[in-house]
Amino acid sequence: MYDAAREASVSKTIRVALYETHGNPAEVLRVVEQPWPAHAHGEVVVRMSAAPLNPADINAIEGKYPVRPLLPATPGMEGAGVVVETGSSAGEVAVDDQVILPHNFGTWREACAVKADQLVVAPPEVEPAQAAMLKVNPITAWRMLHDFVPLQRGDWFIQNAANSAAGRAAIQIGSELGFRSVNVVRRAEVTGDLQKDGADVVLLDDDNLRDAVAELTRRAPIRLALNAVGGESALRIAKVLAPEATMVTYGAMSLQPLTIPNGMLIFKNLKFTGFWVNKWYDRASASERAATFAPLFDMAKRGLLRTEIERSYSLAGATAAVQHAMQSRRTGKVVFDLTR
Ligand SMILES: NC(=O)c1ccc[n+]([C@@H]2O[C@H](COP(=O)([O-])OP(=O)(O)OC[C@H]3O[C@@H](n4cnc5c(N)ncnc54)[C@H](OP(=O)(O)O)[C@@H]3O)[C@@H](O)[C@H]2O)c1
Repeated sequence: MYDAAREASVSKTIRVALYETHGNPAEVLRVVEQPWPAHAHGEVVVRMSAAPLNPADINAIEGKYPVRPLLPATPGMEGAGVVVETGSSAGEVAVDDQVILPHNFGTWREACAVKADQLVVAPPEVEPAQAAMLKVNPITAWRMLHDFVPLQRGDWFIQNAANSAAGRAAIQIGSELGFRSVNVVRRAEVTGDLQKDGADVVLLDDDNLRDAVAELTRRAPIRLALNAVGGESALRIAKVLAPEATMVTYGAMSLQPLTIPNGMLIFKNLKFTGFWVNKWYDRASASERAATFAPLFDMAKRGLLRTEIERSYSLAGATAAVQHAMQSRRTGKVVFDLTR
């Protein structure tokens, strides 16, 4: 039988971002035309909706990320789209489902063929750009608030880079769970936005931090710190922690190493550990993943979990988009709108 949809897709091309060598993303990234993808057994074709430009994507293009793909490679560790073609073995996934792509897939493209059993189906009520940004930062925030210290409602945690997407997800999730947060930032103008997210305390990352935290938390014990900066910033938040507390390092935005005074280990028995969402995905079963996504979908549907977007670009603007994503002092993420 003549299949008009198939015939149309065969003659179609898609735009795909790729790099052939590591280097400055604005110099090595280009956008090429490729044929519309064909799905193999067990795969479906996804028409991509959106994909953010995260720090790890920039690091991967630069060749500074621990996972090095075979080159040429398409960047993009997360993104979302809509299933437009299925084969006979798509399992639970159906045409028109909104889906979140597997980790490290290379999402900066207009369409892809992908194994159906690696997709996470997201509720249609979640906006496409928000669905595209759930897999890295909100999942990381959720896991870090659950996997290291058994926090109860009313307990405090502290974090630096609190206005990052990961930091704001931690504020929103923490607030929903009844945890109280001390949020350390390097510029005061973000305070109001973080308070709207549910931040209890917002403080500048400076030498007054310890006294200010003691006063504003009324010396309540803080047993969990989330560190995305390293260097002096990590040390400043470690200094406010209660004995036996845990600092989870998940980012290194300052590129400075963590230097821990001996006394923090000997006299306070602080624990220093790390989190990498890639490893979590490697280890988590399908049901564990689903159990982590479920409350995030619920929060996103209710408007309680939202990643701010500073600007959207089409793939044609990939060079400008990566330059923008590498700028500090943003108000939100830079995102590819892959439908434009
Ligand atoms: N380990 C994991 O599994 C995992 C998962 C998710 C995220 N991460 C990491 O978490 C970090 C945040 O990611 P994101 O996507 O949430 O970032 P983002 O939204 O792009 O925000 C970047 C943040 O870093 C701050 N920043 C940039 N340079 C800095 C410096 N030199 N010193 C202090 N702060 C600096 C920015 O502050 P300004 O706004 O003031 O410029 C902003 O708060 C990144 O390192 C990322 O790789 C790791």
